[in-house]
Amino acid sequence: MKSIKKNDVAFFNRAIDLAYKSSGLVSPRPSVGALVTNENIIVGEGATEKRPGLHAEVIAINNAGEKSLNGTLYCTLEPHSFHGVAPPCTETIIKSGISKVVCPIKDPHPKVNGIGFEQLKAANIEVITKVHSDVIESCKELISPYVHHLNTGYPLVTLKTAMSIDGKTATRLSDSKWITTLESRNKVHNLRYKADAVITGIGTIISDNSRLTSRDHDDKYLGRPKLRIVVDSNGIIPADRNIFKQPGQIVIASVSKINNLPSNVENMVLPDGNGKVSLQKLLFEMGQRGIQNILLECGSKLNAGFIENGLVDQIKIFIGGIIIGGSDSPGVISGTGIDLIKNAIPIKDLSVLQNGNDIEITGQINHPYKCCN
Ligand SMILES: NC(=O)c1ccc[n+]([C@@H]2O[C@H](COP(=O)([O-])OP(=O)(O)OC[C@H]3O[C@@H](n4cnc5c(N)ncnc54)[C@H](OP(=O)(O)O)[C@@H]3O)[C@@H](O)[C@H]2O)c1
Repeated sequence: MKSIKKNDVAFFNRAIDLAYKSSGLVSPRPSVGALVTNENIIVGEGATEKRPGLHAEVIAINNAGEKSLNGTLYCTLEPHSFHGVAPPCTETIIKSGISKVVCPIKDPHPKVNGIGFEQLKAANIEVITKVHSDVIESCKELISPYVHHLNTGYPLVTLKTAMSIDGKTATRLSDSKWITTLESRNKVHNLRYKADAVITGIGTIISDNSRLTSRDHDDKYLGRPKLRIVVDSNGIIPADRNIFKQPGQIVIASVSKINNLPSNVENMVLPDGNGKVSLQKLLFEMGQRGIQNILLECGSKLNAGFIENGLVDQIKIFIGGIIIGGSDSPGVISGTGIDLIKNAIPIKDLSVLQNGNDIEITGQINHPYKCCN
């Protein structure tokens, strides 16, 4: 099998950058980046648009126009091969006269899964799938919520928290503003922007009065996330909370029906049989609605609910350079906790970044999903 030339990696990195621009914003579609080169010059670029917009490959080919003839297409995911909301990208690629496609990742969608590559090869287009391992990793990361949702039916769940050096998420008086610096908080706004939904608990809504929206430096609402969810078993959320003062769809999950909610608020009744909201049913329902990635921004009790039920896939911890102390100030996860260290939940693929005086830790949790049909 032929592999791409060393300098071709630069083209691929550009395609990955393009895909990152649409990452988290185009679900239920996966984020894809594509570019067309001719004689080693980029002649067209594209990133996936929201439905019913165009796919990345088609945008790149449209931009390249006649320069697609005998050109090379670099794309971060196998071109799709069936008539869905959009016509098959393979049709556009074949018609364009492109002679080579470089793409390392098979689309696991059951209607594609290698058929895209086969259609291209059948039209005498050279298909190269062997690329640098870093490129493969970046392409896989780009589509991780899409693949997770496809494989499990559930959204990819990221537990995000800000804590002090000594592991506290608030003071004993429930004050938590701010544990981390503006740099980390801007990153959180970006995480919210890219999330399909954000979940918090009634405890946080009462003590922090959070809006849970993504906003720019001037506090301007950016129209994301798509959905904000409050877990409120007993339906006690006060009507004057800031969450209701911003536009955007809201879900309140409770044990029994809540009356007289504003028109942009949906009440989901999801009892777990023990007087609490069933977090598993909530995630399952979100998966059914095509929600691919969820950010948890909860206090220690609800974090414990998600962790103890095996519902968290990824953690993102921002550690601020401060000490809070106090046995009554909460940590990241309360609940019963584990009995012995040998039973602790392992966190894999840990990575660390420094944001000014804060540290950002990301890691993965692997666990089997239980279906709750
Ligand atoms: N540092 C940070 O990153 C950060 C982030 C968020 C919050 N906080 C801080 O956390 C504090 C609030 O913490 P919290 O734990 O009270 O708030 P929370 O996690 O936002 O909400 C907890 C509540 O969720 C409800 N809940 C519903 N179903 C549940 C289930 N299945 N499992 C667990 N809980 C369920 C429970 O109340 P009901 O059953 O009565 O509904 C529980 O009391 C505040 O001081 C806030 O500032 C810090």
